[in-house]
Amino acid sequence: MCVQLSNSIFNSKKYIFDLKKLIPQETIAKIFDSADIVEVIGDFVNLKKSGSNFKGLSPFANEKTPSFMVSPGKRIFKDFSSGKGGNVVTFLMEHDHLSYPDALRWLANKYNIEIVEKEETEDQLKVKHQREALYLAHQFANEFFKNSLKESDEGKSIGLSYLKKRGYHLKTIDEFEIGYSPENYNALENKAKETSYSIEPLKKVGLIKENEKGNYDFFRGRIIFPIHNITGRIIGFGGRTLRKDNKVAKYFNSPESEIYNKSHVLYGLFQSKNEIIKNDCCFLVEGYTDVISLHHNNIKNTVSSSGTSLTDGQIRLIKRFTNNVVILYDSDPAGINASFRGVDMLLKAGLNVKVVLFPTGEDPDSYAHQVSNEDLKLYLNDNQIDFISFKTNHLMEKTKNDPANISKTINEIINSISIIPNVVSRSVYIKKTAQVFEMDEQLLINEVQKKLRSKDGINATSSLPSISKNTLPSKPFEKGIKHDLNYQEKDLIRLMLNYGAHSIPLKVENENEESIEEYPLAQYIIEEILTDKLSYNNEKYQLVFDEFLEGLQKGLILNEQHFVQNNHLTGLVADLTTSENVLSLNWKKKHQIHTKVESERLKQAAHQSVYIFKLRVTENLILDKQQLLKELDSTESPEPIMEEIKELIKVRNIFADELGIIVTQ
Ligand code: CTP
Ligand code: MN
Repeated sequence: MCVQLSNSIFNSKKYIFDLKKLIPQETIAKIFDSADIVEVIGDFVNLKKSGSNFKGLSPFANEKTPSFMVSPGKRIFKDFSSGKGGNVVTFLMEHDHLSYPDALRWLANKYNIEIVEKEETEDQLKVKHQREALYLAHQFANEFFKNSLKESDEGKSIGLSYLKKRGYHLKTIDEFEIGYSPENYNALENKAKETSYSIEPLKKVGLIKENEKGNYDFFRGRIIFPIHNITGRIIGFGGRTLRKDNKVAKYFNSPESEIYNKSHVLYGLFQSKNEIIKNDCCFLVEGYTDVISLHHNNIKNTVSSSGTSLTDGQIRLIKRFTNNVVILYDSDPAGINASFRGVDMLLKAGLNVKVVLFPTGEDPDSYAHQVSNEDLKLYLNDNQIDFISFKTNHLMEKTKNDPANISKTINEIINSISIIPNVVSRSVYIKKTAQVFEMDEQLLINEVQKKLRSKDGINATSSLPSISKNTLPSKPFEKGIKHDLNYQEKDLIRLMLNYGAHSIPLKVENENEESIEEYPLAQYIIEEILTDKLSYNNEKYQLVFDEFLEGLQKGLILNEQHFVQNNHLTGLVADLTTSENVLSLNWKKKHQIHTKVESERLKQAAHQSVYIFKLRVTENLILDKQQLLKELDSTESPEPIMEEIKELIKVRNIFADELGIIVTQ
């Protein structure tokens, strides 16, 4: 539970605003002037005065000690738990997932500011009208379908009785706006003609089709499940046949349109988003009826990717509301396959994933009908397993003791672990896998790192959990092949961009006294690189480094935002800051990871990255000198070069020592 929902403006009705209008700039200024940030946020968060600021429990994270701050003077809020911060409008946007104009309208309403909206240009209007016509076509059709279900004899005797037989209450039917499309080939068309509604938009969204015999209703004789967008407007339909014969497709779905992009829509999200936030968890099911049954059994944080297999766009949508997903798929082979795929996609997006399987032949809908509400809740709670157990149980089902099968299973799990972006999560799952299979954790770390390296070229050796001598890929120096420094350079920049301002504990010597001081990670890396007068081969990395240095000289620690607007570097930044997530605070709290431990780990990661870089640079230098030695003609004395090599070897050994590598020379 992380949001006070009683005051949420989610609970209010759908916002449908007049599309012809824009809010004029002066009105926006007036809204900002009038809005009292303490008063507005006070509607959602219990704020207490604290000095010149106000403090409260974060509405974005689960916390016991208040870390959410509102400054009336600066007119900003800052949430130290989630890192979010901004002004009164962005607060509403974040907190209630409102659009910018909707947040402004909400404030205007609160402060009785009249919005005299400005006309848009012809072109803007045309595009909006076209889209609006499509929304209205769905709305028109759905009114007809709902009405047919509840008011017509056919709808009542066929559609409604079917839904009732399946155990769906009127309340759920209303909430999901379920309808019925009559058997008549032209029912919707006739309705449109009767009310002088244009057929064109209905055709455009695939509700009315045409063949050689003329027009016909696409969904005729089906139960209609409207698909809502996040603001509650209908953008498509799913229609279930009432026939038993296998020749007709069980479901028909609307085609994609200007307003309906299947891979960016989740069925049930409009009805579920409140509860997803409230529970900080989202149940993911396969079908329309699963969403409806669970809702009706009071499990309302449920969505489905109905009609498509799960997409990245849908995952991003879930991520706006929670980081925790529980997959509830059938346990038939198709369901298991879909779950395997879903698990990996969700892990890759940095989400925490659990799986609940139902007895063979059951889906959440059918199971919900067999047990009581309470038992269903218990079942969902008690049967959540993480992806390791899920994959293990499934893959080992048939041949428990077959070594080939065991190794296949472990490999499958290593695959999944290696796509998790968060390094701390990775290490937790590695531990768990080691326990499950009673095997050496280090071995697993090595395997995961191999996968990581082969995947994106990011050198996994500096990942946080991998602090160990054995894991250092000390490419045999003896082979005489120069190291490619790109990985190491990239890794240092990655650490600076992601964790630059994080403190790490360092030993500092002051007049013979040693003390531990907190040091920003970026500063540590920069000083280390400068001390040994190193530079980067890669131009872009050097550029980022130079800017960091410049910032530091002004007392600033830059973050990725500084580079995002630089066209030259933005791609690099996007790459390096998304492949490794910044440690999530929520996660840390849940798993009780101490900040001290984390900064210790960061320190080790930075230290390791810096010293591998130094080590490799030095080894390359040694190779250069050895090459020189070979090319020396007989008149020159090899002594000076040999001296240099000796010195370099000493230096190299110091670096190796720092890393805990034993170098055989
Ligand atoms: N689906 C589809 N087209 C089909 C079959 C299925 O689009 N021909 C989609 C629907 O979104 C459906 C989901 O896949 O809800 C799951 O399919 P299935 O399990 O077969 O249907 P249920 O949702 O369980 O429907 P019911 O309980 O009514 O059989
Ligand atoms: Mn079903």
